[in-house]
Amino acid sequence: MRAVTLPAPDDMDAWREAARGLIAEDVPPDRVVWQVGSAPEDLFALSAEPAAAPPVDASALRVSRAFIALANDVVLHRDAERFALLYTLLWRLREHPRLVEDHADPLVRRLDGLAKAVRRDIHKMRAFLRFRSVTDDDGDRYVAWFEPDHHIVRANAAFFVNRFASMRWSILTPEVSVHWDGTALREGPPAARGDAPDGDPIEEVWKTYYASIFNPARVKVKAMLKEMPRKYWKNMPETALVPQLLAGAQARESGMIERARDRVEVGGNAQAAWEALRDEALACTRCHLHRPATQTVFGEGPIDAPMMFVGEQPGDQEDLAGHPFVGPAGQMFDRALAAAGITRAETYVTNAVKHFKFEPRGKRRIHAKPDAGEIEACRWWIEQEQMLLRPKVTVALGATAARSLFGKVMTIGRERGRKQRLPDGGAAWITVHPSYLLRLPDEDARTTEFTRFVEDLKLAHAALA
Ligand code: URA
Repeated sequence: MRAVTLPAPDDMDAWREAARGLIAEDVPPDRVVWQVGSAPEDLFALSAEPAAAPPVDASALRVSRAFIALANDVVLHRDAERFALLYTLLWRLREHPRLVEDHADPLVRRLDGLAKAVRRDIHKMRAFLRFRSVTDDDGDRYVAWFEPDHHIVRANAAFFVNRFASMRWSILTPEVSVHWDGTALREGPPAARGDAPDGDPIEEVWKTYYASIFNPARVKVKAMLKEMPRKYWKNMPETALVPQLLAGAQARESGMIERARDRVEVGGNAQAAWEALRDEALACTRCHLHRPATQTVFGEGPIDAPMMFVGEQPGDQEDLAGHPFVGPAGQMFDRALAAAGITRAETYVTNAVKHFKFEPRGKRRIHAKPDAGEIEACRWWIEQEQMLLRPKVTVALGATAARSLFGKVMTIGRERGRKQRLPDGGAAWITVHPSYLLRLPDEDARTTEFTRFVEDLKLAHAALA
């Protein structure tokens, strides 16, 4: 038996090094015990086999970007089995290099679930963390208390550095504390709830933010409670709003809520959270597509839009303009939306993959289909957009969008025209991509297919009623 002790619960580099060594030594998963921190004495007793130094077979270690993206998330989960599960997957990849794409495989499904939970926790930290201002000898400092479900604090710290670069702040958690002084990030010991201050004037700002995210006219109370587990309530000033929100939801159910309230409540910091997300995406390097592309093309539209349309990836024109659906496919899409009676104000438009993938041919850049690894790497962004917008209806335009949203291959011909459930429970429809209509060779087929496309859009739109 081999025992591996990693220095920290979120140490992906240490896990990778150890896993690489074990694979090179051909140590099967059932011969490895993974441990974090200082291992108990008797665990070392398991290390009966001394570490030999066999030749490293580099080809056995080549893994896809999708695996690395998955492992980066999974390592942050609190599940004690995560390192062993990842190692088992790595082991099996030698026989089945594309196993990560097989979301029906029980191991992959379990790891997908862990990764998703971690991404949700990261999102929650970004959405629910509350800074209170305190004054020390050097002036104002902002201090926040947060209780994450997983080991996400270090991994998430860069986001707060980018977002609040000019502030001096500390984030205190039961596992670790991180401190930013405007130039450097420091790590400190675990903290207790009482170490963070209570109450201050900026809470009002957060109350508005909270009410905008959990607008009762758009979110069922049950979904809201799921989104913000009770354990966060005691730390949040907006807990005071909960009875109001519940009352709002009941009023809505009895048809009393005024539409106008939607507009007033949505805005403020929800918009700021979306802008922070978009800004972060502009610097995305989660896959190699960012290198040849001109820029990230993020989603666009009102953040309270009830309909989210998801395309494949930006095309040549979108890549240059930095906006989704502005080229020929975008114009076709606009015509179809108008024919379906859908206004721009109701729609948020985004893509499964945020960088243009192409093959250069002379001076031209020819569209190339994103592969499963690229779709997987980019899923992070679409999930964040979904969580922030919580659209009533999502429409997948084409197979790539459907694959990204459902996490598996969907057959458009079979699924179009039927209401679908997204993995997060949201309602969705699947239809063709507008560029499909552009590629049809004859006029009659184009007219027929355009009409079918418009019918699909009308069906999805009708679900808003
Ligand atoms: N096709 C897409 O899927 N998205 C765009 O933004 C443009 C073309």
